[in-house]
Amino acid sequence: MREKLKQVIYVSERTDLSEDSLTNIFDTSHKNNPEKGITGCLLIGSNSYLQFLEGPNLRVEELYSKIKLDSRHKNVKQLHDQSVEEKLFSSWSMKFAPFNNLEWSNQEFDSGNFLNIEPEGAINVFHSINEVMNG
Ligand SMILES: Cc1cc2nc3c(=O)[nH]c(=O)nc-3n(C[C@H](O)[C@H](O)[C@H](O)COP(=O)(O)O)c2cc1C
Repeated sequence: MREKLKQVIYVSERTDLSEDSLTNIFDTSHKNNPEKGITGCLLIGSNSYLQFLEGPNLRVEELYSKIKLDSRHKNVKQLHDQSVEEKLFSSWSMKFAPFNNLEWSNQEFDSGNFLNIEPEGAINVFHSINEVMNG
């Protein structure tokens, strides 16, 4: 039987705004995610992160537990948790998308503040990104 897949979206407040911390998260994600079958997209706002994680159930839960404990952000709030049959971002081990550099960007997010985003808005953002990127 095929492994069950799930998607998680959370928003969090950045505590470390340095480039070094982003580079480190980028390197770690690209090292770890492929071997775990995890894919997704991390939106980097001025004060916040909005991350979409997907992959095999247990792998996503494991990673999300680690991420919640990471001191480079705080107030991690889960917006979405769903079992799915297919991935949305199957070819991205973790797409890093700075908020000021997004083709899909709109006024609501131009400030790079994702903290007040509603679950439905967050889901829509990732679906739009997927459409823009994959045509
Ligand atoms: C906003 C944010 C997103 C992250 N995304 C990932 C990720 O997609 N994959 C990953 O392995 N670690 C990610 N991390 C890092 C984890 O919290 C943790 O430091 C890392 O998984 C530990 O990896 P290691 O066990 O190989 O040292 C993220 C951290 C933050 C703050």
